[in-house]
Amino acid sequence: MPWWIVNDNRHNNSRPLVGVLDYLRDIGFEELYRPQEVLPPEQELARGEAAGATPVGRVEAAPPADPAERAGMLARLGEKVSGCTDCRLAERRNSVVFGVGDPNADLMFIGEGPGAEEDRQGIPFVGRAGELLTKIIGAIGLERSEVYIANIVKCRPPGNRDPQPDEVAACRGYLESQIDLVRPKVIVALGRVAAQTLLSETTSLGRMRGHWYQVRGVETRVTYHPAALLRNVGFKRPTWEDMQVVRDRLRELGSKDPS
Ligand code: URA
Ligand code: URA
Repeated sequence: MPWWIVNDNRHNNSRPLVGVLDYLRDIGFEELYRPQEVLPPEQELARGEAAGATPVGRVEAAPPADPAERAGMLARLGEKVSGCTDCRLAERRNSVVFGVGDPNADLMFIGEGPGAEEDRQGIPFVGRAGELLTKIIGAIGLERSEVYIANIVKCRPPGNRDPQPDEVAACRGYLESQIDLVRPKVIVALGRVAAQTLLSETTSLGRMRGHWYQVRGVETRVTYHPAALLRNVGFKRPTWEDMQVVRDRLRELGSKDPS
């Protein structure tokens, strides 16, 4: 299974290795290892891309098996991210919206980025789309507090524009850490931006739906963003169908009783 991948220099050349090591130590890592022989950067990149994985410069380390330890690391990561100024979205935000829910959840939802209400409250999916997401979670027999909810970017893009590639890249390590620390059984990507980012795809939402993917070793499904359901009720039925597939898979994977 792919493991802990923290620094991805293909996306962020600005963070020196020593900073990465400090960061890892801050959030509780004691050991690091490189999983394979390290080649010169050009060859490393070619090899990684050929394998569909492992961009140059990644440092990998295994997160602890103990759920309580991982939950503690997640909390420390959240504190650290609350002061992040790695991209321009820091300038106009009111809050960093890190994530919410059960730090050891079996199911993780990943949206695009905070809207106005989320920026006010510092909690993901608390506006109108969030109310609908809460209902979608309830429809498969779970409470909001039983899942983990996060976004691709942690700070609100002005006017709710799409996050820019450099903003996504700056935030990506945080999301990857969240996935590795929560270690859910299933991820649901909400909407095109989340799905394209997680799957490294450029295709439409409709084409990404209906398949299982692996994201950092976690089975991942794509569905419509709840905000899209507010604009087009025709998306409700396929979203419901996607969620039934997710519920069934959680059951198969031995998750604690989604209804
Ligand atoms: N839309 C998102 O993608 N995320 C939120 O947190 C709220 C709305
Ligand atoms: N297009 C999007 O970008 N997101 C959706 O959820 C649906 C259509």
